[in-house]
Amino acid sequence: MNTVNQSQEKNKTTDWSVNSWQNKTVRQQATYPDKVALANAVDTLSSLPPLVTSWEVKKLKSHLAEVQHGKRFLIQGGDCAETFSDCTSPIISNRLKVLIQMSLVLIHGCRTPIVRVGRFAGQYAKPRSADTETRDGVTLPSFRGDIVNENEFTEQARHPEPKRMLEAYHHSAMTMNFVRALVDGGFADIRHPEYWDLAWVKHSPNANKFHELVEKISDSINFAEILAGREVNNLSNVEFFSSHEALHLHYEQALTRQVPRQDGHFNLSTHLPWIGLRTNQMDSAHVELLRGIENPVGVKIGKETESDHLVDLVRTLNPNDEDGKIILIHRFGAENIETHLPRLIDVAQKAKLKVVWVSDPMHGNTESTSNGYKTRRYENIRKEVEMSFKTHKANGSHLGGVHLELTGENVTECLGGARALQEADLSKAYTTQVDPRLNYEQALELAFAIKDFHRA
Ligand code: PEP
Ligand code: CO
Repeated sequence: MNTVNQSQEKNKTTDWSVNSWQNKTVRQQATYPDKVALANAVDTLSSLPPLVTSWEVKKLKSHLAEVQHGKRFLIQGGDCAETFSDCTSPIISNRLKVLIQMSLVLIHGCRTPIVRVGRFAGQYAKPRSADTETRDGVTLPSFRGDIVNENEFTEQARHPEPKRMLEAYHHSAMTMNFVRALVDGGFADIRHPEYWDLAWVKHSPNANKFHELVEKISDSINFAEILAGREVNNLSNVEFFSSHEALHLHYEQALTRQVPRQDGHFNLSTHLPWIGLRTNQMDSAHVELLRGIENPVGVKIGKETESDHLVDLVRTLNPNDEDGKIILIHRFGAENIETHLPRLIDVAQKAKLKVVWVSDPMHGNTESTSNGYKTRRYENIRKEVEMSFKTHKANGSHLGGVHLELTGENVTECLGGARALQEADLSKAYTTQVDPRLNYEQALELAFAIKDFHRA
């Protein structure tokens, strides 16, 4: 029996449970010396209310089915690693502002509804290339995100603490609560662009372009309202969904639940959990945990992803062959996309896989500068998005969305963009815990570029 048939066989079985992942190969987890504290934290988490609801999860899945059929476009963005200390009003609202502005550029430019998904309210766990880090002869556990330990290079800070899972839950709940309150309260109302204007960019070239666009939209709404003789409703209602890498298996298990009057299990820590590139193997505990849930599931794929593996992975994660269920987030790097994307599109078409294709133009374009900064060039990011659109189109497929690392803060982490950030500028405001993010201006510039690629 070949591997594809084997995985189909497996999908028919009912051997899945919320802890069946524990019999698989577990990667990228912290080692907690205190097992009792770990069990207590998982118990407490399991009894706390969910962060999202099954109805919302199903709604997102139906939106993603529309993305799959080319009727919507997905924008997914936020920090590489959220931190507890960044759980503040300005940081959360600025990130929301950028996502709202980008989605407006895309709605207007692409004439298509947008699905907005944040990389927030739970993006606290990070995969690392090594379990330990050595500095000046001292070896300590690697920093694995605020849900596990602290970044500071001391023994105490790097010690994995189970109670940080509860802190991650609380910070996710506070973030979600604030996002929901802002959005429900009319923060994103198109008639009040001043609510989501970012003060510090008043004079940037893209901000002017953006303000012109807002004026155009406002004029059209006013015109429509005069014609109709009444207010156009529902302009203040935008939907935001949450997502994070479902990396910390104990945390994800504790929030994977059954709910009344619904079939199956839902991961209620987030609407859209995804599996990272480092944990997407067929024997992976992460694939096991996520194959049993009803949520849509993202999977990162890259140049190292073998064609057969892609087919096995999608069939395993989508046992009922649902639309809007699997989001393939490809991250090749601008240099490699032309070599590898056509191959994966072809295999997906031949196997009749139902998938949403999304471009992550960040993770294949990371480099280090001579002065020791991890960075990305705006030009490479832009290029990978452009190539993603073109390659899908040329191969009878279509790009359904983008997955970006960005912030609403005025950081200097990625090179280039409208203000042509140079290597020497990076030290001015380099605050990311892990990967370099697009700042507000670079993100908005990219939104205008995406609009053009989408139209082309
Ligand atoms: C990430 O999205 O931050 C990440 C670690 O990505 P990948 O799994 O694609 O390397
Ligand atoms: Co990252």
